[in-house]
Amino acid sequence: MTAPSHTDRARSFNAAAAQYAANRPSYPPALFDAIEELAGRRLTGARVVDVGAGTGIGTALLRGRGAEVLAVEPGDGMAAQFRLHHPDIPIVRGNGNALPLAAASADFITYAQAWHWTDPTHSAPEALRVLRPGGALALWWNTTPLDIPWHIEQAKRIERRFGNHPAVEQNGSGARAALADPTGRLDFTRRKVRWSRRVPIGTHLANIGSHSIFLVHGTEASTAFLTEEKQHLLNAFPDGIIEETYDVDLLIATTS
Ligand SMILES: C[S@@+](CC[C@H](N)C(=O)[O-])C[C@H]1O[C@@H](n2cnc3c(N)ncnc32)[C@H](O)[C@@H]1O
Repeated sequence: MTAPSHTDRARSFNAAAAQYAANRPSYPPALFDAIEELAGRRLTGARVVDVGAGTGIGTALLRGRGAEVLAVEPGDGMAAQFRLHHPDIPIVRGNGNALPLAAASADFITYAQAWHWTDPTHSAPEALRVLRPGGALALWWNTTPLDIPWHIEQAKRIERRFGNHPAVEQNGSGARAALADPTGRLDFTRRKVRWSRRVPIGTHLANIGSHSIFLVHGTEASTAFLTEEKQHLLNAFPDGIIEETYDVDLLIATTS
């Protein structure tokens, strides 16, 4: 099989949007505390544009912090799930490379696990155009901790099966790429926020199965891997409850 393209992977979520909504991890309250601290302003009452909003996992949390939030999402399947779960939150179709928004109209632009799907030569100047002076661009990813043995072993198994495994969740490459800002105007501060959740093994397998690397390799290859993976996990977690730990990799830059 030829290597799936970046575009194929960026679009892959749409076919698995319900699985994504039901099983993907959320983000901890400490992340939003860190965003407010590093931006030097509260989310309450702020105009926030959440780009690559997907099914709305991050968007709903921003709304819960009192933000006046607008979601931007390019994918049909993801936008449909968003509307199903969050009918009261406005969403527009669009993508980060050409935001369908007026200049200087947002206090925050957020990308939860989505910046790496954009082309920063377009998305970085677009964020700067749409942010108000003193606004903040916040990018984050739930990444796999590199000090927890079972997570490391699983990452190695995924890499062995699917070849070089460029998932940003595994290696922090999303944040590293963002730091190479093409505009030279984004002075990012980086912060890590660790958190964990305990989920049944089925939820965990459906969570990892909703990553683009699985989605683009097709059902047969993914099912075979996940069936074997279940046995590995039951050895580590005999009661079938998995403790997933995440290091949220947060980058935030304020505009002048
Ligand atoms: C991993 S999901 C993250 C969804 C959501 N933000 C979350 O935290 O669960 C990545 C999302 O980015 C969207 N996406 C793909 N290409 C994009 C682009 N060029 N600009 C903005 N979003 C994009 C996908 O459709 C998908 O909904």
